[in-house]
Amino acid sequence: MTVIDSSEAPVLAVPRRPDGQLSLRQFLRVIRENALATYPPEAFNEDIIAQRLLWRRTFVINEPSAIRHVLLDNAANYTKSEVGRRLLEPGLGRGLLTSEGETWRRHRRIMAPAFDPRSVAAYAPIMTEVAQGLLATWDALPEGSEIDAAAAMMQATLYIISRAMFSSDSDEVVDVVGRGVSRYQITVRPRLLDLLHVPEWLTRLISPQHTAGIFDEFDKSVDRLLAARGREPHAAPNDLLARLLAARDSETGGGMSAKEVRDQVVTIFMAGHETTAQALSWTWYLLSQHPEAEARLHDELTAVLGGRAPRHEDIVNLRYTRMVIEESMRLYPPAHTMARQPIAADEVLGHRIPGGAEVLIVPWLLHRKPSLWERSDRFEPERFAPERAASRPRFAYIPFGAGPRICIGAAFAMEEALLILATIAQRYRLHLNPGHPVEPQGLITLRPRYGLKMTLQRRRT
Ligand code: HEM
Repeated sequence: MTVIDSSEAPVLAVPRRPDGQLSLRQFLRVIRENALATYPPEAFNEDIIAQRLLWRRTFVINEPSAIRHVLLDNAANYTKSEVGRRLLEPGLGRGLLTSEGETWRRHRRIMAPAFDPRSVAAYAPIMTEVAQGLLATWDALPEGSEIDAAAAMMQATLYIISRAMFSSDSDEVVDVVGRGVSRYQITVRPRLLDLLHVPEWLTRLISPQHTAGIFDEFDKSVDRLLAARGREPHAAPNDLLARLLAARDSETGGGMSAKEVRDQVVTIFMAGHETTAQALSWTWYLLSQHPEAEARLHDELTAVLGGRAPRHEDIVNLRYTRMVIEESMRLYPPAHTMARQPIAADEVLGHRIPGGAEVLIVPWLLHRKPSLWERSDRFEPERFAPERAASRPRFAYIPFGAGPRICIGAAFAMEEALLILATIAQRYRLHLNPGHPVEPQGLITLRPRYGLKMTLQRRRT
């Protein structure tokens, strides 16, 4: 077993937070800036944190068996929370991420085949091709050039989701989505009135968020995409878009409305690229701080691939590469918080949770809970070796959520992250620029607040 010298472990980036207990005013300011900065250091150790914001009760559940209860065993009693819906719905509409009940079940049934193992394996060539395209643009730069790794990962994953789900005729949408998603996250922040569940019309009146127009350009592009498919339905590829357009309700025989299709398309674009890009960005950051782990990754890539592009069949052999990504999503879970609301009152860990309360499950806290993770704030990919992972409770690690609402794109995301990391790390090392500030910022997802300015170094293999 490797003994780790504590003096050598680098201090990793965490959110900046005012000391001590936050006043209501401070809390409201901090939650808009960075949701994760609201938690004091003690929060990582707790099983459940009961809070009250004026008349609203909030419970943070931070214990694996209780999380299993909420997300799986008693999932029928929990809907997605009103606050989460208010954040996402103005942009995403009612897609798979935000819908409930029968509508959600129908949408999930229609979309599931696009994410089954056969489909995911079939997307692998698109994934490596896009990663190689990125390498080609880097190869054209002078040695030692500076890039923003977060922006580069975002661009790559956006192209991949666009081609995999909507075929290449959607390429024109890529830039439009990229701009829209970034503006949306920065514009839409939780307001006190949202947190208190003040009716939406009143909230809009008192404190409007300026989301109007953010997706106009995108909607126009999607309209064009749909119109083109409508004109030539038989020439269209058999992709997710074709499936959405062809879907018929088994009971009524009706199809999805144009608005429903638009909402699914924007949901897949949004949910399907940013999170994976962030998982990769944090991975580059962590590798830049841990040269021994990086060297071990390089050794595996040499042994398994020997310089050639990775394929789907290689993935089972890229064991350490997978551990690196898993450990990266432990420390920096792209989906840092899941929010639910019980329909009827429930009891969790001896606390009575009233119907309608806010229930938060926060991978950011859970994945760093000291009683579940030794040296919880260190980057140690070996903790994901199968024999060590098997000794942990299943619900201690939930980067993709769990239960019926588990991420539909989990296998797609892992395939993509592995293939991109393996392709790029064979050819380049990325060094964090000295002095570049790194701060995890919890908005809708967990992003590096100031991007990731890194210097490219070509590897001589
Ligand atoms: C590393 C990358 C990703 C992470 C960490 C991630 C995380 C998550 C999490 C935690 C949830 C559950 C949310 C909840 O329970 O409230 C979720 C749901 C979802 N994800 Fe992902 N995701 C990733 C990639 C993707 C990709 C690549 C796609 C699509 C191509 C996708 C599409 C979705 C959709 C549509 C849902 C809603 C599922 C439902 O409610 O039925 N995600 N994701």
